Amino acid sequence: MSNHIVGTHALHKVMESNILKISQDARAAKAINPEVIDATVGMLHREDGKLFKYATVEEQLFKLSDPEMYFYAPVNGSKEFSAGVIDWVFGSNRETITKTFHLSVIPTTGGSGALSNSLYNFNDFGQSMLVPNYYWTPYENIAEEAHIGVKTFRLYDENYDFNIADFTEKANELAFEQKRLFLILNDPCNNPTGFCLTKENWQAIIKVLNDISRADIPVILLHDSAYIDYQMKEHNQSRDVYEAFLELDENILTIIAFSGSKTFSMYGFRIGAQLGMSKSKAIIDEFNRVGDYSVRARFSSVSRPAMSVIGKIFANQELKKTFILEIETAKDLLRKRIELFHEIAQRENLKMLPYGGGFFVGIETDNQNIFKDLVQDGVFIISMPGMIRIALSSVKLTEIERLVKIIKKHI
Ligand SMILES: Cc1ncc(COP(=O)(O)O)c(C=O)c1O
Repeated sequence: MSNHIVGTHALHKVMESNILKISQDARAAKAINPEVIDATVGMLHREDGKLFKYATVEEQLFKLSDPEMYFYAPVNGSKEFSAGVIDWVFGSNRETITKTFHLSVIPTTGGSGALSNSLYNFNDFGQSMLVPNYYWTPYENIAEEAHIGVKTFRLYDENYDFNIADFTEKANELAFEQKRLFLILNDPCNNPTGFCLTKENWQAIIKVLNDISRADIPVILLHDSAYIDYQMKEHNQSRDVYEAFLELDENILTIIAFSGSKTFSMYGFRIGAQLGMSKSKAIIDEFNRVGDYSVRARFSSVSRPAMSVIGKIFANQELKKTFILEIETAKDLLRKRIELFHEIAQRENLKMLPYGGGFFVGIETDNQNIFKDLVQDGVFIISMPGMIRIALSSVKLTEIERLVKIIKKHI
């Protein structure tokens, strides 16, 4: 056949580094040899190797009525879910934020659904978005699917602080060249590095965005907050950075991608939200118009049981309090692994990237063969240009010393 079966735009689609596929390979290898260390999975696991589930979530899940379980979910979200997402995301800043911004919540199939709807609707085909050079690789695929490209700036300066100079240069270059800036920042607990921006970093970033917006260039800030609940800070402190958001100029659209997968350990349920915020009502009206349309056109609606469970936890102060305490135990689990990893890495002279929270630690490397070298020694990680990502979310304390030593051998 001389003509292609797929459309010309799909001819070059090949999933090259599929994290979920590598995780499946790692699981299969571990099933044959229990000595294999699987540090690939972005799902929190307990020390006995089982998934970390939240009792509050499970209790509510098994009590759902038939309509709460089986009906279609409302496209705009139940009141409990949508109002609850706003409360949850902003924490103690909710009041000032709601007074300052127009807000809207659109439920999506995980944080991924929020990312793909946003990239598709707020760029022209052929344009590029901006991300730090260390980013969650599926951004590339989500962008490609939306017919847009990826441009990067250097995340770190020479002291491993946020590289505001390179960010400023690259953001301005791209914005003035294509007359649009769509920026994704995954914070706190950047995947793949564990890096967390400070409030001062955000203030500096927002100043750059405001300057670009004042040149009449559309600016969209996508704040991917997937790991907001796993920063090594108290619940409200990890929401401190939203104080900096108060300074955003009127014509900027901020979209917070909320992930129910990580916060509630409901990975397979596919629930999340696009939380739109702008000081301009007209911009939020546009956000709603295209967001509602894309939900209906792409996946119709989201998981009803997940929306019901999350809505119930958000709407009941007692349940919410208990749930927040449960998250602390999840963070303790991660903290112990990170501390041990850090201690042994220091002993072995293995340099970790700065870690502020989340499921991953990162280590820079020049070894382009690192993935294969580690697999030969029974260790599965995710490699990306210049670094490896180690998912401590799925590694047991007893595996960490061996893990560090094997990494050190090949780095
Ligand atoms: C940085 C980042 N953003 C977004 C997501 C989206 O997750 P989900 O679609 O499961 O909510 C993930 C999941 O691994 C992630 O690591």
